[in-house]
Amino acid sequence: MLILAIESSCDDTAAAVLEAENRIRSSVVSSQNEIHTRFGGIVPELASRRHIEMIRPVVDEALEQARVGLDGIDLIAATQGPGLVGSLLVGFTFAKALALARGLPCVGVDHMAGHLLSCLLENPQPAFPYTALIVSGGNTSLFAVDDPLTFTRLGRTRDDAAGEAFDKVAKLLGLGYPGGPVISRLAAEGDPAAITFPRAWLGTDSLDFSFSGLKTSVAAQVDNQRRQDSPLSVPDICASFQEAVVDVLADKTLAAAERMGHQRVVLGGGVAANPRLRSVLAERCARSGLTLFMPSPALCTDNAAMIGLAGYYRFLGGHLVEADADAYSRSPLN
Ligand code: KG4
Repeated sequence: MLILAIESSCDDTAAAVLEAENRIRSSVVSSQNEIHTRFGGIVPELASRRHIEMIRPVVDEALEQARVGLDGIDLIAATQGPGLVGSLLVGFTFAKALALARGLPCVGVDHMAGHLLSCLLENPQPAFPYTALIVSGGNTSLFAVDDPLTFTRLGRTRDDAAGEAFDKVAKLLGLGYPGGPVISRLAAEGDPAAITFPRAWLGTDSLDFSFSGLKTSVAAQVDNQRRQDSPLSVPDICASFQEAVVDVLADKTLAAAERMGHQRVVLGGGVAANPRLRSVLAERCARSGLTLFMPSPALCTDNAAMIGLAGYYRFLGGHLVEADADAYSRSPLN
């Protein structure tokens, strides 16, 4: 079975062709970073306009790279939510229209489900059940994953997502957008113990997160140093900030796995590309006898291959969408 998958929930236009259930024939991502970088964040109106321009060429490119025409496609899968509705509507409507015109089945996929399953696109695959940390620009949540259709949320951020914190700190340091890659690059040259930024544990039993206080604390520190005219070591700030984020993410992920009695931990979402998060989690999981599964960075950030995989399982579960199905901004999973 060949699946054409489309993802347009935020600022990347992506399409992939997947051979059921997990062989990626092609995966194309068109980034909008250069459009949004001067604003220090995503401008929704510009994002949806760019999706409209790119959706057709990106889908054509994915089909071409997979060496297949629409005649060879058996199923269309597209992200239905959550995300920016103006962005979602472009990919989701395109998918439904294509399915209608070609007489193909179409499934709507929750973006979070894509991240929760993306490690199944790699080898070795984790067996079920597992604990998953999904950490991106829009989400920071812990889930128990029992099978490809059963996800239980264990905790989530009460305010900013971790990626959002990276982006906001980068903005206040004048580092552009997206913040994660540049902060992690600079952090590699800094001292993670230079500044002790606060960690929001939210009580010993809580699996929720909070990053807005940390961001405010970085802003106060930067402001203070500028007012005192003292030299601002950007790498030290980046390393110390990153350490505070990683510390909490790793700690709560291990606590969640322990609470669920899971042997396996899975990482997903754009922040999962962060080398420090990857190495700290790997070390702590190894110490606790847990097996960690991390998708390669290209499958951590937004992509359509993970939507194809999650869509395949929705198709097997009989969850097809009608042509009048709507996109949604908030995930029922979250
Ligand atoms: O999953 P994703 O591509 O898009 C959504 O948010 O849905 O994640 C993008 C987020 C951005 O906030 C970006 O700053 C962050 O992931 N990110 C990183 C790194 N690479 C991307 N954060 C920390 N370290 C990185 N290396």
